[in-house]
Amino acid sequence: MSTAGNDSLWYKDAIIYQTHVRAFCDGNGDGIGDFRGLMSKLDYVQALGVTAIWLLPFYPSPLKDDGYDIADYSGVHPMYGTLQDFMDFLDEAHRRGLRVITELVVNHTSDQHPWFQRARHSPPDSEWRDFYVWSDTVDRYSGARIIFKDFEISNWAWDPIAGAYYWHRFYSSQPDLNYDNPLVKQAVIATMDDWLDLGVDGLRLDAVPYLYEREGTNCENLPETHQVLKELRAHIDQRYPGRMLLGEANQWPQDAVAYFGEGDECHAAFHFPVMPRLYMALSKEDRSPIVDILRQTPPIPENSQWAIFLRNHDELTLEMVTEEDRQYMWDTYAKDARARINLGIRRRLAPLMNNDWRKIELMNCFLLSLPGTPIIYYGDEIGMGDNYYLADRNGVRTPMQWNAERNAGFSSANPQQLYLPVISDPEYRRETVNVEVQQGNPHSLLAWTRRAIMVRQQHKAFGRGTFTVVESGNRHVLAYTRCHADNCILVVANLSQAAQCVDLDLSAFTGSTPVELFGRNAFPVVSDTPYRLALGAHEFFWFDLVG
Ligand code: GLC
Ligand code: CA
Repeated sequence: MSTAGNDSLWYKDAIIYQTHVRAFCDGNGDGIGDFRGLMSKLDYVQALGVTAIWLLPFYPSPLKDDGYDIADYSGVHPMYGTLQDFMDFLDEAHRRGLRVITELVVNHTSDQHPWFQRARHSPPDSEWRDFYVWSDTVDRYSGARIIFKDFEISNWAWDPIAGAYYWHRFYSSQPDLNYDNPLVKQAVIATMDDWLDLGVDGLRLDAVPYLYEREGTNCENLPETHQVLKELRAHIDQRYPGRMLLGEANQWPQDAVAYFGEGDECHAAFHFPVMPRLYMALSKEDRSPIVDILRQTPPIPENSQWAIFLRNHDELTLEMVTEEDRQYMWDTYAKDARARINLGIRRRLAPLMNNDWRKIELMNCFLLSLPGTPIIYYGDEIGMGDNYYLADRNGVRTPMQWNAERNAGFSSANPQQLYLPVISDPEYRRETVNVEVQQGNPHSLLAWTRRAIMVRQQHKAFGRGTFTVVESGNRHVLAYTRCHADNCILVVANLSQAAQCVDLDLSAFTGSTPVELFGRNAFPVVSDTPYRLALGAHEFFWFDLVG
């Protein structure tokens, strides 16, 4: 059963590690990661200091969208193991105090799902046909954008068996469920119950803004969608207190914040817009992109939490930036057109930072200290590379690099048998970038990441604190405080590749002593004159403001 304990707000203090069963470790030597393999690496995940694991979809699926096209909501894809393997994994994770978040893909299924097969063979207007959204023409809902714009030209696809078009917001092999049919909602709730009954601690609600379609709208964030979320939440509050819903709504802050409702919808939701602005602030050496977007972010209910990230399994999305900023991001971070996909960039953190560890650490400083629960994408803690010559987003989903041996220690299979090739770029290949080497070096990125996580874990202010920008008189330096109860943390970060000096307005903290959190050294006491600090290139400080 769940480790939820009595702290129902655990998701506010969490640090989440995101991984794919397929990509982590192959336990049976067939070239594909599985639950047995994942279980054998739980000590590693625990030692990292994270508190929860988020798994990408592992259900039966034709894998046209890496498992986000689900053919059976209640099972486990045989290549990853059995339901028993999943339960063993869950027990082992819980035994280590790690919570487990799985995917609830609410918007669509695979076209192989029995619901879709039944729908296409059922008479028009029957409740079975009505599980999906059908039309005789492609003119309906023309206000909805196309999301996978490199792959699809319409949100409608023709089904010769039904003799009608069906609606899909993603690949045409992923028909959208029809929430106007009450049976759909019931079926989704039953699925949710199945996994919560097994003891899963949280559910990521994939692609949640698109549940309803209404003529004359862009078919996103509709009031009906929020109504469904309120029902799901009420159901959880009543039957599964302590569990968590994490909404994936790639939206502007005003729209994203609506997914918390009045504290009665998602417990947590991704803050998409802040992510590209971290990259912009770094390359422009200017704090404004970060400050501006956080200023535009409305306050959230007391029981709610943002989830933030630097990279994930998808492209670095540029949907929530202006046309001009998107062009800037592409020009700066994806000069090679092959690195671009849809409205984003298919690269990992380390290559985006030109493998400059000071920059990687600075980005992680923001990930771990800005408001929200941080999500670390597997492999980024060792600075793994990517391969954008692979199709779709596969270049950021390659096998985890455990050691310098064959297949990077991920699998004992013939290298040709792997689900995706291990990274072989000279700068990032397994001999250079792997867990084993970094575990042996106290100055590795892995060691640094563990330390940073450990430091964060000592202060609730990181997860729960207020956020206030501190004036530094220098746009290259971003400074802010995070305060919770009687504890205040001061973060000072230099976005520039040159050393910088700042005079911070710390008048609100006169008399307190800044204690640097990594070395625990006391800095001079804050007086009523501006507090002067010098920072090296891309350097940052975390201070506990004591007294
Ligand atoms: C979400 C997932 C993405 C998937 C899409 C469709 O955006 O993160 O990987 O392709 O939903 O399910
Ligand atoms: Ca396997």
